[in-house]
Amino acid sequence: MKDIESSSFDFAAYLEMTRKRVEVALEDSLGPERPELLREAMRYSLLAGGKRIRPMLCLASCELAGGDSEQALPTAVALEMIHTMSLIHDDLPAMDNDDLRRGRPTNHKIYGDAMAILSGDALLTRAFEMVSLRSEGVAPERLLKVVGELSLAAGAPGLVGGQVEDLECEAKQVDLKTLEFIHLHKTGALLKACVTCGALIGGANEKLLDALRIYANGIGLAFQIIDDILDVTASSDVLGKTAGKDLIADKTTYPKLLGLEESRKKAHELVKESKEVLTPWIKNASPLLALADYITSRDR
Ligand code: IPE
Ligand code: IPE
Ligand code: MG
Ligand code: MG
Ligand code: MG
Repeated sequence: MKDIESSSFDFAAYLEMTRKRVEVALEDSLGPERPELLREAMRYSLLAGGKRIRPMLCLASCELAGGDSEQALPTAVALEMIHTMSLIHDDLPAMDNDDLRRGRPTNHKIYGDAMAILSGDALLTRAFEMVSLRSEGVAPERLLKVVGELSLAAGAPGLVGGQVEDLECEAKQVDLKTLEFIHLHKTGALLKACVTCGALIGGANEKLLDALRIYANGIGLAFQIIDDILDVTASSDVLGKTAGKDLIADKTTYPKLLGLEESRKKAHELVKESKEVLTPWIKNASPLLALADYITSRDR
């Protein structure tokens, strides 16, 4: 099948407009936390300017399902909060021990380990507050499903399970199946929740939800393959995080198992397959198709 094109869609403009919309919502999401230092630590990492791919996937999926993406905005913020928590914790000395994130010193480097753990906890729990208490105009049964999806994605069946396996596999000979498990859980699970939660709020039927789950599996795995590749090929300056760390920590990665070229090929194939799944919805799928391409074309 011919690769699905989304060329007439002005992705650069879409990216910029949606990023600004998300930034405003993120800015509004932090209350007057006490003590002030907690608020500062939460803000420090949340508003440090990530790519905001997760909220974008959520909003785009809501619209594809025919919903009003304004109703999905608190959930989009929640997803970025869970993601930011995972980054703060991922960087801790007991995990990847990183000094640089989103172009700044890591949270624990500024606020200390205890505050980094606690501000991550506060962002994770605020995420559930965003969905359950700060969403307007969404049917409660839809919000309940979103809470369920987030619980699975953030917890042992998802991100946490993947992170544990990632750490367990350092400096070990690991097969491709195990590596796929790691990537689909530590990274793919949350990306899948982004599209399913957005679609659920938008009122997607089962057929669309099934297609979006397949789409998300592909882009989720591709996303982490590209992250592994960039760790080898990009500079810390461009990445805003320390390059070359995976080799030093002897992480299990796609480049380690397959080499750079095969890894790139695999990521492109996955993205192509993901896009094809959305063919029946092609008229309204431009943002999701372009976001899929962005995952492999990005330089950071
Ligand atoms: C980095 O995610 C962590 C991974 C799951 C690979 P992103 O590449 O989306 O990081 P930000 O949000 O843009 O900083
Ligand atoms: C990230 O994997 C997975 C998370 C859930 C944060 P990495 O450890 O490769 O992410 P980076 O490279 O530090 O962003
Ligand atoms: Mg890690
Ligand atoms: Mg890391
Ligand atoms: Mg990485």
